[in-house]
Amino acid sequence: MSSLINPLIWDDGVLKLLDQRKLPLEETIVECRTHEDAFNGIRDMVVRGAPLIGYTGIFGMALFAKGNRNTSIEELQKAADYLNSSRPTAVNLNYELRRCVQIAKDLKSSEGSLENLEKEFVKFGHEQLEIIHTHNLSMAKIAQKDLEARLGKKKFRIMTLCNTGYLACGPMGTALGVIAHLANNDQIEHVYASETRPYLQGIRLTSYELKKQNIPHDVVCEGSFSYLMKKGLIDAIFIGADRIVRNGDTANKIGSSTLSIVAKHYNVPFFVVAPTSSFDFESDHGDQIPIELRDQDEILFCKGQRLAPEGVSALNPSFDVTDANCISGIICEKGLIDPVTKENLLKVTGRN
Ligand code: MRU
Repeated sequence: MSSLINPLIWDDGVLKLLDQRKLPLEETIVECRTHEDAFNGIRDMVVRGAPLIGYTGIFGMALFAKGNRNTSIEELQKAADYLNSSRPTAVNLNYELRRCVQIAKDLKSSEGSLENLEKEFVKFGHEQLEIIHTHNLSMAKIAQKDLEARLGKKKFRIMTLCNTGYLACGPMGTALGVIAHLANNDQIEHVYASETRPYLQGIRLTSYELKKQNIPHDVVCEGSFSYLMKKGLIDAIFIGADRIVRNGDTANKIGSSTLSIVAKHYNVPFFVVAPTSSFDFESDHGDQIPIELRDQDEILFCKGQRLAPEGVSALNPSFDVTDANCISGIICEKGLIDPVTKENLLKVTGRN
């Protein structure tokens, strides 16, 4: 296996991000020295993927604490709100930033000062990177067991969309973590990686990861969903999530909902794999999820070359919401939510 490059490293007060905009052709690092740099890294998609956006938020708070030794809880809250405004859909960012503010409040009441805040945030960030690895492995094992029982076989042809691997999570991955785990156990016959227009996370990033891990795959375009399933080429589909709300509706990369509808039509099991940090227990329904609208030039241009006639505009929603009734199961570190109902979601996650 070729070496996997860590997408996020804290190196002596500098946050180093693998520049995912340049992959797969160049492996370069962007250095963040201020929380504004971290904000730009998230907004400009140097770093992306729901869990990794969350961890960048934590280390962004560490950068703020480093540059503002005499800060207050109010200032920290402002920094958290600022970082949270970088991208709206993945709830992980909000979740981690809220926890950072809580850490600061706890530190203030226990030590009476915020002097050690940078150290606390860095420790917290590294702990989360370890925890997500454990969670991803648990989710992969749950998926493996369910798939074997559901399909009555040991080797699978899996489809996925966007990038949900270690580039999106730090260690391992969610949906792509399932695929990597199956591959480690010689249980992958083939993977179909959807190219993921317009930002091309599938063809650029998922294919980059699969190739590094020697996992056999083809890149396919979004228009081929029906062709592939009608031909019986897909045993199951695994995607990640940016936000799962209480009724199981799930926001993920644009095209996920279309994929789920085609899967339901052809009776192909469709799974969402996401840690509970991607769950938004404050929202009841998918309609409440803010959907990021990105620059139209991501559609209109390819590598600086305009594709559409001059004067033509584009609409670029970056995510869509898959209806809970199109999802066969949601896998989180606490177990499998199947069927996907509000009651089951609360029961498996232990929330109310
Ligand atoms: O716009 P991106 O690349 O940040 O979108 C990423 C996705 O939609 C992923 O599927 C999702 O964040 C889950 S990553 C484990």
